[in-house]
Amino acid sequence: MSEDFNLKGYINFWADKVGEFLQEYVQTKEIFASGLVKSMKYSLFAGGKRMRPAIIYSSYGIFDSYFDKITPYAAAVEMLHTYSLVHDDLPAMDDDDFRRGKPTNHKVFGEATAILAGDALLTKAFETMLDKELNPEVEDKLMVEAAFKLSKATGDAGMVAGQYADMEAESGGFDDSIVDFIHENKTAALLGYCSELGAILGYGEDIDKANMKEYGRKLGLAFQIVDDVLDVTGTTEQLGKDAGSDLEKGKATYVTIYGVDKSKQIAREMIDEAISIVKPYGKASRPCEEIAKYVLERTH
Ligand code: IPE
Ligand code: IPE
Ligand code: MG
Ligand code: MG
Ligand code: MG
Repeated sequence: MSEDFNLKGYINFWADKVGEFLQEYVQTKEIFASGLVKSMKYSLFAGGKRMRPAIIYSSYGIFDSYFDKITPYAAAVEMLHTYSLVHDDLPAMDDDDFRRGKPTNHKVFGEATAILAGDALLTKAFETMLDKELNPEVEDKLMVEAAFKLSKATGDAGMVAGQYADMEAESGGFDDSIVDFIHENKTAALLGYCSELGAILGYGEDIDKANMKEYGRKLGLAFQIVDDVLDVTGTTEQLGKDAGSDLEKGKATYVTIYGVDKSKQIAREMIDEAISIVKPYGKASRPCEEIAKYVLERTH
């Protein structure tokens, strides 16, 4: 029989740690930059689920328990993720008005500031990871590996490539191979990075890094399938972002290719596979398993 596990409490505990860090670290004394930082903080504190930090901490927990060491890294990934959403919502991209239950960044601060806030969040993610004073316990070798792999996962060989393909596919004529490319890159690459990061910072072996990356990749694929399904089945209130946005823009999604039921079934299979990768790590893998299950059950 499995013991109870309070996933909500688990995610919130780490979300608070990351929130405290961001509150403190993302600041400026420069009066001329105060509007920029206000815009960055608006999106950082708009009420995101903080799933990526939870994935990083849960993966790290398999290998080590010195969690304070990795908080700047979890916060850095949340900064980068937040940048991707601020830019994703821009009129030139998905042109959405709501995010995390609030008006989108450009609706509040204007497009120019939203673009710059995104740029600054992206850059600050790497500043945060590579700051030696902030991370005295992280060896140079691990710092470099962590930053290098983050740039690989989120640039033209990862998330940005996925975002590009997502935009291109709006003009139609897409098939399942394009949707798979989009999901693999725009979402799964970063989630795979998050779980691999836990193994990197926790001194996992190469095989552990590969396992954790694959766990996160599968989690990410399921996460994006569920996101596509929720766009169709959810409401704007429930999602905190514009429901029906994909349909309106003619996006290439899992729902347009497979329909809702088959999409849900594929997501379930991905999650089963993800869980089977972490299960052999024993008791310490419980948070990773629970997060995987939550990806299927989430309603926002
Ligand atoms: C939204 O990510 C973008 C996708 C990859 C689908 P989340 O659903 O994790 O967004 P927040 O951080 O909770 O707002
Ligand atoms: C965005 O995908 C993924 C990113 C890398 C930002 P979506 O466009 O489907 O995300 P939502 O639905 O707006 O959150
Ligand atoms: Mg998009
Ligand atoms: Mg979008
Ligand atoms: Mg979406």
